[in-house]
Amino acid sequence: MTLVIERDSAVAVRAPQPPAAPREMLRPLPDPLLRIAGVSLEYRTPGRVVRAAHRIDLDVYEADRFVLLGPSGCGKSTLLKAVAGFIAPVEGEITLGGVPVRKPGPDRIVVFQEFDQLPPWKTVVENVAFPLRAARGLRHAEALERARATIDKVGLTAFATSYPHQLSGGMKQRVAIARALAMQPKVLLMDEPFAALDALTRRKMQEELLALWDEARMTLLFVTHSIEEALVVGSRVALLSPHPGRVRGEYNCHEYDLSSLGSRSFQAAVQRLHDRLFEPSPETAR
Ligand SMILES: Nc1ncnc2c1ncn2[C@@H]1O[C@H](COP(=O)(O)OP(=O)(O)OP(=O)(O)O)[C@@H](O)[C@H]1O
Ligand SMILES: [Mg+2]
Repeated sequence: MTLVIERDSAVAVRAPQPPAAPREMLRPLPDPLLRIAGVSLEYRTPGRVVRAAHRIDLDVYEADRFVLLGPSGCGKSTLLKAVAGFIAPVEGEITLGGVPVRKPGPDRIVVFQEFDQLPPWKTVVENVAFPLRAARGLRHAEALERARATIDKVGLTAFATSYPHQLSGGMKQRVAIARALAMQPKVLLMDEPFAALDALTRRKMQEELLALWDEARMTLLFVTHSIEEALVVGSRVALLSPHPGRVRGEYNCHEYDLSSLGSRSFQAAVQRLHDRLFEPSPETAR
């Protein structure tokens, strides 16, 4: 058992608190499922090194809906790619279940923003079933059965034999989510999966994702630059500073969901995160 000092808790996104001593609670927690410890990430191009993330420390626990929130270019996608195993840290380490992440694996599946992440020559059910056979080693019938069950969960049973080009953007994202969920990854990685959708569909997809989480209790690492989306989707939010991304704070937000939109406490939380997001960075302020 590890004793964990909880960082900024929900109070950080509620009404302003008196400048009392930080509320530090000592409470026993299991080991984190995903640990990002002192991780820096860089891109090396000829003659140039771009540091995308700087000394990131984050712990993600099982069944967390953990959101990375930060401005464009702060390194959110890069961090997600590192967790997925596509990029290796230049310092620090990422571990999943105590095992260092060194390469991509079926225990970490990414859902991207783009609608064209599905092979267009495969039907919906084939798209979901294929990785189950290829990466999970399921037999054909088993893969089809699991694929159909997951497609049902995302409400696409009537479109199981359709091709991606016959679907709307929101439906394609549902297929991508079904494909990822069917793999039963240890962590589901989502990189702004709803950003290209219209506002109504986006809200519906957020609702569906929360309903899926209620059922499956999967661990989610979700990237967004929308404060509202972070508060609605997340149970915990890590705020990243502008480029290169550093962790500015962590906030609990279990209490918010779509029904909170418009409430005073939700608006206050949005404002607080907004202010924190846009306050001058101590790292760059001279
Ligand atoms: N392939 C690459 N080669 C060089 N630099 C890159 C590459 N990909 C990203 N970068 C740089 O790394 C930094 C972080 O990029 P990243 O895509 O992770 O940001 P982001 O937070 O996901 O932004 P957005 O919200 O716009 O998606 C940026 O400065 C970007 O220019
Ligand atoms: Mg990105």
